[in-house]
Amino acid sequence: MRDNFLWGGAVAAHQVEGAWNQDGKGVSIADVMTAGSKDHAREITNGVLEGKFYPNHEAIRFYENYQADVKLFAEMGFKCLRTSIAWTRIFPNGDENEPNEAGLLFYDKLFDELLKHGIEPVITLSHFEMPYHLVKTYGGWRNRQLIDFFTRFAETVMERYKDKVTYWMTFNEINNQRILENPIYSFTNSGILYEDGEDKLKTMYQAAHYQFTASAITVAKGKKINPNFQIGCMLAATPNYPLTSDPEDILAAQREDDKQLFFTDVQVRGNYPRWAIKEWESLGYKLDITETDLADLKVGTVDYIGISYYLSNTISTRPEAVRLEDDLLGDSSLVENPYVNMTEWGWSVDPAGLRYYLNMLSNRYECPIFIVENGFGYADQLIGTHVHDVERIEFLSQHIKEMKKAIDLDGVEVIGYTVWGCIDPISFTTGEMRKRYGFIYVDRDNQGNGSLRRIKKDSFDWYKKVIETNGTEL
Ligand code: BG6
Repeated sequence: MRDNFLWGGAVAAHQVEGAWNQDGKGVSIADVMTAGSKDHAREITNGVLEGKFYPNHEAIRFYENYQADVKLFAEMGFKCLRTSIAWTRIFPNGDENEPNEAGLLFYDKLFDELLKHGIEPVITLSHFEMPYHLVKTYGGWRNRQLIDFFTRFAETVMERYKDKVTYWMTFNEINNQRILENPIYSFTNSGILYEDGEDKLKTMYQAAHYQFTASAITVAKGKKINPNFQIGCMLAATPNYPLTSDPEDILAAQREDDKQLFFTDVQVRGNYPRWAIKEWESLGYKLDITETDLADLKVGTVDYIGISYYLSNTISTRPEAVRLEDDLLGDSSLVENPYVNMTEWGWSVDPAGLRYYLNMLSNRYECPIFIVENGFGYADQLIGTHVHDVERIEFLSQHIKEMKKAIDLDGVEVIGYTVWGCIDPISFTTGEMRKRYGFIYVDRDNQGNGSLRRIKKDSFDWYKKVIETNGTEL
């Protein structure tokens, strides 16, 4: 493990900050999503409606508590904190010409506080929180104008924080939009709700192209602002295993990997994979992709790949395979893997999959990788003033061991590792509080009740030791 390895934690603005309409902040897409659960999807409402409960509006009030929270991160010895800049604090509607100074000031204060404690801010520019106005007025990323709005935002914050932030990422889990069957993914990635009868796949490719272009332009502009910037993409990394050695299973799993890596192929290599171009031809898609866009993609390739890693998928075409209830891919090919356990939320637990995927990315792209999310969503119990989260310690320790094998035995270049939801955030997919991830417990329930008091879990001291020993003591 290198000495300057970036151990730390990760959150996103909308999942912790709260203060949804303070200091000039505009309404974001996260502000129109109600609370849900594993069995009840979050509702995406038409604006902020009276009588509905929107958990992100208050979240855990990091906006007010950031100093005390950063102090706790420092106590654990964090070298970095990954968070996002809420686009709507800077450009409340997204299409203004001038930024909101109060929003910019908040991140000045936050970054100064982090740096004071020797914690490096690692910043995502778009983490499921684009301005809602851009959805209502422009149709989200269906619209080419979004490229200008996004790059104006990116340039503004990169210029402002050029001496405070080195590591940036453009779009969080950009490949989520590939999941066409559940509206939460197209909405949070791209501000798109598909219409009845719409060719979702075609719209998805178009939106992704505009995002790729915006990302590439941002990389090029960022490098001009500060040549030391490290600007990455961000992929939800989910291995797809074939269930059997039936060649059809192998091919189906390979195709699923390709669909996921389509995003990194463009952002790391700077051009579209051949299979995608063939697919567009065979489906008769004429996408709005200009020569200038293609030139931008070539210039604006990323410096590193940021990944989130939570679980693996298993794919099969065979009739006897047990289908998963949650048919996220929409083609019934996702099946149970008899070799891995599942969490209460139906996410498989597969530490070795992390090593597998790191190797796959490293061999394919030969570029540095930053694990910017890995974590264990669990219904922790507060007993008196203690949370004995042994399951989380076990989960993280197993994953870190696999990461170390990838680094030490396989030679994969990993820049850092940030544990998702280092302080309990609002869950993204379900909007719950009950699905906790943190080293720090936050007293708040699914209905928004609670004192918001922070309590260290057992994993707090455990992770402190991990960082202190540079991953030796797990
Ligand atoms: C990733 C996101 O999808 O996974 C985070 O980048 C999210 O925003 C995390 O919170 C865990 O998902 P969830 O639904 O358990 O919060």
